[in-house]
Amino acid sequence: MTNPNPGGASLLAKHLTPAVWEALKDKETRYGVRLIDVVASGLAHPESSIGVYAGDEESYELFAPLLDPIIAKYHGFGPDGRHTSDLDPAHLDAPNPDPEGRYVVSTRIRVARNLCCFPLGPALTRRERRIVEATVVRALASLEGDLSGRYYPLYEMDHATKERLIANHFLFKEGDRFLEAAGLNRDWPDARGIFHNENKTFLVWVNEEDQLRIISMQPGADLEEVFARLARALGELERRLTFARSERLGYLTSCPTNLGTAMRASVHVRLPRLPEEKIKAIAGDHGLQVRGTHGEHSDAEGDVYDVSNKRRLGITEVEAVRQLSAGVRALLAEAS
Ligand code: ARG
Repeated sequence: MTNPNPGGASLLAKHLTPAVWEALKDKETRYGVRLIDVVASGLAHPESSIGVYAGDEESYELFAPLLDPIIAKYHGFGPDGRHTSDLDPAHLDAPNPDPEGRYVVSTRIRVARNLCCFPLGPALTRRERRIVEATVVRALASLEGDLSGRYYPLYEMDHATKERLIANHFLFKEGDRFLEAAGLNRDWPDARGIFHNENKTFLVWVNEEDQLRIISMQPGADLEEVFARLARALGELERRLTFARSERLGYLTSCPTNLGTAMRASVHVRLPRLPEEKIKAIAGDHGLQVRGTHGEHSDAEGDVYDVSNKRRLGITEVEAVRQLSAGVRALLAEAS
């Protein structure tokens, strides 16, 4: 397991000053979320890069003296910022950066969503989590055409199927230590599962780090097609479900790194001729982050890197995908 934050203090460590602790330590949201819950993961894991999770929408208001500076630092989004959304595929203009399929193995865009009027995952009771699952599964069951599929509850899935889905990047990994310490793995695997369509180009994770992780993916580098499918699926789901959203912070998520668009647009790209440092430098210049082949906190296997937008708040969905497109073009220009 690689250290996600070598040599650095977490944003929590930087911003949880004695004064902030004193001002917030006795506060509690209507759903019973306290400061100690918000900081639990970062305290248990000093190697965290961020270290905080919100238990509900109100956490972002009540604990703002701690969370706002962390949000500002990660997203470059100040307290006066206002998030706007643009999911219109007609605005995208990001032609396939690798039409011959020489470098880009696959493209995946996901957004996180949580249901309005429930606590977020860290504060859900077992019963509420089951209600969330039932509500989401009912909505998914009515999707039609290429978005129609089946829901597979985790507790029914045999070990080999689970391992295969994880290895092929379709399913979340289990036992993340940061989520564990945040209380997000309570009652595991109860009320967790995955929905996917026939050819696994549209998938929804239920009750992992967020209540929904909505994913559009496919082999190759057709960003426009992947984005268009995601936007269409989101439109369908918005007609069936009401998602937690704030005027200022956009879509609400348990981890502040995912606020706003809650979107991570990524490609898996094979770059055998470029040193990792160079890849990270080019990606960084384009506002992108580099992860290993198996996502966050993993290493690159066979020179395949996961490259994605870092910022999710204060940027539109269209801009996030354009940023990815420009960065991938720059990487491929160096790779050949
Ligand atoms: N809590 C972990 C940390 O602070 C992960 C943060 C970002 N990743 C995530 N999946 N939310 O290092």
